[in-house]
Amino acid sequence: MAPKTPSRTSPAETDEPPKREVALEDLAGVGATIAEKLRESGYTDLMELAVASPGDVAEAAEIGTTVAQKIIADARRQADVGSFEIGTVLLERRKRLGRISTSSSALDELLGGGIETQAITEFAGEFGTGKTQIAHQVAVNVQMPAEQGGLVGETVYIDTESTFRPERIVDMAKAAGLDPTEALSRIHIARAYNSNHQMLLVQKAQELARERPIRLIVVDSLTAHFRSEYVGRGELAPRQQLLNRHLHELLKFGDTYNAAILVTNQVSTRPDVLFGDPTRPIGGNIVAHAATYRVYLRKSKPPKRIARLIDSPNLPEGEAVFSLTSEGIRE
Ligand code: GTP
Ligand code: MG
Repeated sequence: MAPKTPSRTSPAETDEPPKREVALEDLAGVGATIAEKLRESGYTDLMELAVASPGDVAEAAEIGTTVAQKIIADARRQADVGSFEIGTVLLERRKRLGRISTSSSALDELLGGGIETQAITEFAGEFGTGKTQIAHQVAVNVQMPAEQGGLVGETVYIDTESTFRPERIVDMAKAAGLDPTEALSRIHIARAYNSNHQMLLVQKAQELARERPIRLIVVDSLTAHFRSEYVGRGELAPRQQLLNRHLHELLKFGDTYNAAILVTNQVSTRPDVLFGDPTRPIGGNIVAHAATYRVYLRKSKPPKRIARLIDSPNLPEGEAVFSLTSEGIRE
């Protein structure tokens, strides 16, 4: 059965990071027990609560709606919801943008200098086009110092298809001159068993990010669970709604922790297209809208792959050729 569609609205529009020094326990009417129940249900910070509906909070914390309303009101007061972000603040935030190299200068250039933080970069393509290999490579590269294309950061790697291979990290780390064991210790891998779990793992990532310098979240694959769980026309709307929420939670993470979000996506075949490329990424408009950079991968003469940037807001469309080698992504 499909999971219940949440009625909570996305906090993405008011994404000024919550004041982290205020704990849930500091809210009027919240004690240790209620705080714990809230956290278990995914309300990990004030902003989450501030934009929640009283019914959802009441259910999550097993309290009456009047109490829930009081908690939400206090969360709103303390989380400063609804404040507009003035242009200068946004500019300051954009100045902090970091970039992670993919190990292919052509691909980096296509992306305007590498995988950008505070943004979602989607790699879409058929099986074997290198999506998972790129994800592994970037999880290694984010660890490097800035001069070498990294952010001295760590990775949360959400693996939905059990295709994460530590051996590949070892190979890539060695080739990059990193200690393989240390490189592996900076990648926090979680296997997502279904779409609900996949979304929950983003919440868990927030907890981890308070202790570790997480600068990259990988979701490989973004859409596979959603696609297999929500089949049929009638389920399209709830699927897209949940996917949308997932993407906005990822974006919010990216903004809060100045982290890059790298997601992979399979393509589906459109039987109606007779000329040109009959494939397109899964998730339709929702993913197209949320992803800042969409890169479409296709196979070329082995070991070459061709990457094409599609509908980017600020970069010219273009193509880049790179290779999949045993050492990782190369020119
Ligand atoms: P799906 O997840 O099935 O949709 O595919 P994907 O796009 O994630 O493909 P993936 O990144 O797994 O690419 C697989 C390809 O990477 C293989 O066909 C190989 O060409 C290459 N590859 C993977 N591992 C190695 C390796 O150890 N050595 C070399 N030389 N190539 C590798
Ligand atoms: Mg893969």
